[in-house]
Amino acid sequence: MRKNIVAGNWKMNKTLQEGVALATELKEILKNEKPNCEVIIGTPFIHLATVAEVIKGSVIKLSAENCADKESGAYTGEVSAAMVKSTGAEYCILGHSERRQYYHETYEILKEKVLLALANDLKPIFCIGELKEEREAGKQNEVVKAQLEGSVFNLSAEDFSKIVLAYEPVWAIGTGLTATSDQAEEIHAYIRSLIADKYGKEVADNTTILYGGSCKASNAKELFSKPDVDGGLIGGASLKAPDFKGIIDAF
Ligand code: PGA
Repeated sequence: MRKNIVAGNWKMNKTLQEGVALATELKEILKNEKPNCEVIIGTPFIHLATVAEVIKGSVIKLSAENCADKESGAYTGEVSAAMVKSTGAEYCILGHSERRQYYHETYEILKEKVLLALANDLKPIFCIGELKEEREAGKQNEVVKAQLEGSVFNLSAEDFSKIVLAYEPVWAIGTGLTATSDQAEEIHAYIRSLIADKYGKEVADNTTILYGGSCKASNAKELFSKPDVDGGLIGGASLKAPDFKGIIDAF
């Protein structure tokens, strides 16, 4: 059966020292807990190796927020999937709407990133989701379908099974506007049906589909109660350990 996951996405927040302090605090408050979900923190590249040491022996797993679309070489400023892996990270967030919007990451670029992440034994947390105008025009299903077809439906069933999906409506990210649990369930079920059409029911049933976009302790329980919502990808509320813990406790 698929896993439930609560994953943090720190985005471009926290100095190294602040990030270490946050990871340490989170480890501390989860010390005697047995969460009913996998707990992941997604941090900037600079935190990865140090935070990997901090969380050793805890239930917390580590993710990067991005990786390069090239293997290695003369790409100044980029960080490869192999480098991410070497820090101790297990996951890599890819296709976040902020990367698509502000850094012009296309379906093709993301396809390469996913392949490189998998080739380096990183599990992609692949984000999809529509813009506000697209939702208003009733195009959300079309958009997520194109995003899947453009970047991950080229994978073999075996490789696809290593991916976690995150549905994040762009209009809900950092805005305080959350999709209702019914809106989330409707599109999560649709996404699962697309996976079933492509890879069969078993793969679809085993795929974890997270919801992201202004998810917080106060709405997590309602969202996670839906059968096709398998957890959350958490931005703002992952930056304070008690807030993040509140979401983990929703399971
Ligand atoms: P948010 O961000 O929780 O701050 O809305 C979610 C995300 O972008 O992953």
